[in-house]
Amino acid sequence: MKKVVVTGVSRGLGLALSKALLAEGYGVIGLGRGESPAFLTLEADYPGQIAYVQADMTELHALSDIARHISKAYGPIYGLVNNAGIGAAGVLATMHQADMEKVIATNLLGPMTLTKYLMRAMLARKEGRIVNISSISAQTGFHAMSVYAASKAGLEGFSRALSREAGKYNITVNCVAPGFLDTDMTEGFDGDQLASIRRRAPLGLPTSEQVAGAVIYLLSPAAASVTGTVMTVDGGSTA
Ligand SMILES: NC(=O)c1ccc[n+]([C@@H]2O[C@H](COP(=O)([O-])OP(=O)(O)OC[C@H]3O[C@@H](n4cnc5c(N)ncnc54)[C@H](OP(=O)(O)O)[C@@H]3O)[C@@H](O)[C@H]2O)c1
Repeated sequence: MKKVVVTGVSRGLGLALSKALLAEGYGVIGLGRGESPAFLTLEADYPGQIAYVQADMTELHALSDIARHISKAYGPIYGLVNNAGIGAAGVLATMHQADMEKVIATNLLGPMTLTKYLMRAMLARKEGRIVNISSISAQTGFHAMSVYAASKAGLEGFSRALSREAGKYNITVNCVAPGFLDTDMTEGFDGDQLASIRRRAPLGLPTSEQVAGAVIYLLSPAAASVTGTVMTVDGGSTA
């Protein structure tokens, strides 16, 4: 059974992705900062396929020990999906410095640090898949999302460059960039904003399950030669 580490499995896309991975036969080592009861209930349908490790992506100094624990207890690890993230809507001029730093720590520094430590065993084994969850906001400007967009654009640059040093070790590094998803992250969007976002998507807005499908592909044998790319799943919003 190939094992995949997924961050942010408590809800939203991370939970949907965990279900999809389990259904495909992967073992899922879920990371989250709370108790994640919804993730843990998946054990009933997929006994022996899940494990849960508490980790806060902003506690960067702890990620080395967490990665070591994961490799020792559950390794070898085939894949890593950096999914945990926060949105921080707000115009830059009035955004608190602490909020800006939290977005960058959660969405960029945390994933880079966890990748650094989990990737070491992949390098030694000469096998691995890394998928970073970006956002269409990395490439398309949206009002009041500059810091979030910067974190995701950083993640895309990180993935592209890392794919070059990882490739010779048979490790791929890619991003999946979802459009608007109906999760807790977007619950603050008002009706007008939502209507305009919906109008922009000729195929309709994507579901978390459809985004999970892109991740499943990037982890699959069919994607062995795909690296350094961004797969956009946005119903055509940015076409
Ligand atoms: N929703 C969208 O429209 C959309 C669009 C494009 C990209 N994305 C990206 O998709 C990913 C998943 O987002 P979502 O929509 O599923 O959001 P969500 O429903 O708000 O879930 C976010 C997940 O990240 C976890 N998380 C947040 N901060 C964390 C931290 N410091 N340490 C560990 N885990 C942390 C949360 O855990 P807790 O339960 O502990 O808070 C939760 O599991 C994110 O990277 C997001 O940027 C979302």
